[in-house]
Amino acid sequence: MNRKFAERLENLGTETAFAVGAEAAELSAKGEKVYPFHLGDLNIRTPDNIIEAAVEAMKDGKTGYCPNAGIAPLRDALARDVGNARGLVYNQENVSVQTGGKPVIGKFIMSLMDPGDEVLYPNPGYPIYESMINFNGGVAKPYGFIETETGFALDFEGIRQQISSRTKIFIYNNYHNPTSAESDDQEMKELAKFCIENDLYVLSDESYFDIVYEGKGKSIASLPGMQERTVILYTFSKKFAMTGWRLGAAIGPRDIISQISRLNVNDESCTNQFVQWAAVEALTGPQDDPQRILDVLKERRDVAVDILDSIEGITVHRPNSTFYLFPNVTGAMEKLGISDVEEFRKVILDKTGVSFTTRKHFGTPLEGEKEQYVRLAYSGITKEEIKEGLEKMKNFIESTDTCTTV
Ligand SMILES: Cc1ncc(COP(=O)(O)O)c(C=O)c1O
Repeated sequence: MNRKFAERLENLGTETAFAVGAEAAELSAKGEKVYPFHLGDLNIRTPDNIIEAAVEAMKDGKTGYCPNAGIAPLRDALARDVGNARGLVYNQENVSVQTGGKPVIGKFIMSLMDPGDEVLYPNPGYPIYESMINFNGGVAKPYGFIETETGFALDFEGIRQQISSRTKIFIYNNYHNPTSAESDDQEMKELAKFCIENDLYVLSDESYFDIVYEGKGKSIASLPGMQERTVILYTFSKKFAMTGWRLGAAIGPRDIISQISRLNVNDESCTNQFVQWAAVEALTGPQDDPQRILDVLKERRDVAVDILDSIEGITVHRPNSTFYLFPNVTGAMEKLGISDVEEFRKVILDKTGVSFTTRKHFGTPLEGEKEQYVRLAYSGITKEEIKEGLEKMKNFIESTDTCTTV
């Protein structure tokens, strides 16, 4: 049968990083040692108290449908916890529970963006923003980052160039995947002023709000005039090592949240009920495990940064948040005689087994970008393997002069 798929699917993007996972798995199946730096998953198990709470809830019969916006105890716990950490007051009407943080992106866009509306979004950035904007008929307007002495900062000039009277939404991912950019107070204030002046709705993707090593996470929703225009994307995935449970929430103004919950009705009906009861335990039970997870991640970060930074032709920052490194590999590529960062990735994978993604997996490079970057996630690999893999990569780069074929 000659199938004709719906035209709208032509505008749907994807996460090409998953393809790197498939390549790495293929190599591994051949018996080669692979060092997995490609996916932002954790190889740390969900804390026991959360697992036990899920089992208890199942045994207790919490296995049926539940309210579309989520169970009241979880909505209350999220309102309290997310509000307290940001100095804001929320209640359960401000919370719509979701099957992960990811669905918040599409549902926020569907609730507020009409076809032809423009949306500013980070590029490099999480690829689902662009996918959902395009799929829903919006106009995707990318903004970039500028590398500084200490990390990455928002490219305000680029942002200002992209704004127009059709711009309706600003997507902000502070504690940013993939660069780990973290706004200082001044930058966040300037951005809030910009969003208010241009009357923009803000999707604040706070997936890594709790993966901050020194100090506490900050949210743009906390700044004056921002709570009323901001929806926070919250996820249990990273802080509680619950990526596979699929649990998150949209938190923001009641009227937007009630539209998002209407979309829940049409989509998944409700999020898995016993998972929600486990999440109540995650938020209200002992908090030593999230701290332990942070300590493990910080140790891995330091091992990875120390080795990467010692490699000829590679420079890297020591980010205070997320579990990603975004090293500048321009010099190493020049040394190897490689001009395409994807080719660099393939050569390193083939010669050393070190598997990572590149800038190109996080959006089409913007005009004028000259430097080359790759992304290494250290959340799914042990400290010992980080050391072994990156030392192999160092030896390979430093002992090879030109290498253009895989
Ligand atoms: C920036 C960002 N937003 C959203 C998500 C979605 O995460 P989840 O759906 O597991 O909550 C991720 C996951 O890696 C992410 O990096």
